[in-house]
Amino acid sequence: MRPNFTLFTLLLLHCWHIDRIHGQKSEGALTVVEKSKGEGADEEEATVGDEDEGDLEVVQPTELWQTLKPGQAVPAGSHVRLNLQTGEREVRLGEEQLKYWRQEHREEEETLSSFSPEELKRAMKKIKEDSNAAHNQASVESRFRPLEELKEDMAQLHLLVETDFQIMKRLLEQLNSSNTTTEQRVSVLQELEYLVHQVDNAQTLCSMGGLQLILGGLNSSDFRVQENSAFVLGSALSSNPVVQVKAVEDGALQTLLTALATAQPLHVRKKVLFAMASLLRHFPFAQHHFLSRGGLQVLSELFREDGGGIVRTRIVTMLYDMISEKELISQKGLEAFMDSAHEERVRQYSKVSLQGALLDEGWCLLVPQLLDSTEHDYREKALRALLAMAPVCLQEYRSHSSLLGSLLSLQDQYQDLIQSEMILGEENSYFLEIVELIEALHVKMK
Ligand SMILES: *[C@@H]1O[C@H](CO)[C@@H](O)[C@H](O)[C@H]1NC(C)=O
Ligand SMILES: *[C@@H]1O[C@H](CO)[C@@H](O)[C@H](O)[C@H]1NC(C)=O
Ligand SMILES: *[C@@H]1O[C@H](CO)[C@@H](O)[C@H](O)[C@H]1NC(C)=O
Repeated sequence: MRPNFTLFTLLLLHCWHIDRIHGQKSEGALTVVEKSKGEGADEEEATVGDEDEGDLEVVQPTELWQTLKPGQAVPAGSHVRLNLQTGEREVRLGEEQLKYWRQEHREEEETLSSFSPEELKRAMKKIKEDSNAAHNQASVESRFRPLEELKEDMAQLHLLVETDFQIMKRLLEQLNSSNTTTEQRVSVLQELEYLVHQVDNAQTLCSMGGLQLILGGLNSSDFRVQENSAFVLGSALSSNPVVQVKAVEDGALQTLLTALATAQPLHVRKKVLFAMASLLRHFPFAQHHFLSRGGLQVLSELFREDGGGIVRTRIVTMLYDMISEKELISQKGLEAFMDSAHEERVRQYSKVSLQGALLDEGWCLLVPQLLDSTEHDYREKALRALLAMAPVCLQEYRSHSSLLGSLLSLQDQYQDLIQSEMILGEENSYFLEIVELIEALHVKMK
């Protein structure tokens, strides 16, 4: 594989995608000055790193909540919350700052008592100046010592909270040590899984060389290690193009395919499948190589072995996602958004030869089996996939011995369900939706 150039282009494409998402999100977003960490339920600590204050108006938080106006920025470490009554964002000093603030004053108070009258006078004067300064926006900043200095103090006080970076470093060291027990490994992986949901953390994990360790875990003979490694990988890959690209470069595709073909207990397979789906999502390069390495064959074996249906449903959903992703990109009517990046996407998706592979691996006849499930959700997923595959599979559907019969019987069943719900005065648009899917497929098969 010589993916560097292609991967670079892909990265650009992904970035373009991300930018657009960011563009949508950033309108109501909060600007934060300086780097910090943490998160909370309805109170979030500032997390975004950006040194450049530019011409933003920076609000200096106090111990009391203040309302934030649009366009105002807050220093990192501040506590920001959404006031649920007014719908406005409010800010006050973060915990670190509160601790520091109190500490500073306590020191002053303690030292005051032992001062000589002369020193006392000077100290009083300083306090007065300080409190005057507090009312003066321009000089408030000087009251705060630089964050680095503050952290040093806190470290001395053993109050320094471990940053995510430090936590991950420690966890990866544990994972890399031959002394770590399986039990510890599993809990390390669980902690990592929690951390990598944050886009930055997942990327930091990559740059620390953590991806290799996680991939190594997929090879483990202990299925709990295997399962949790797949879970970390899947979560790190989810909507994270940088990690997706790095993972492909590190050989994740082959490792995941091998794990998919060999993973034993059902719950391990589910997690490996999750990681694979996250790797392939919006990543035509990876999809192309997945197909050329027999990915669909591995999936069809898993499909045949799974009686319960959950793995089957996940697989069918994965196929559906791949088909519709490609479909969406090549759809007409997107000319308005056409730029070179879009053209490149179309070009790359055109190399994902999914249709032929679906036919070759017998998916036209496999997916209808999922209709036998008793779960509405599984049937719905099957119907959507059958519709998406119809352009390739129509001949096979028509010559299928029982597909038409199954569809008609399902149609009756859902009509009945809708009827009885109407009698009860309930309306279930979900069942209606399923009936519409059945009808659409039926029409195509005529
Ligand atoms: C592993 O444990 C042994 C003894 O229990 C110790 O000597 C060694 O330094 C440990 N290795 C690591 C990498 O922690
Ligand atoms: C794991 O340990 C090896 C040496 O034992 C080292 O070369 C490698 O960089 C370590 N990996 C990580 C991610 O810490
Ligand atoms: C997993 O194991 C296979 C063979 O046992 C090996 O070739 C491969 O490099 C291993 N992968 C990782 C990421 O350790």
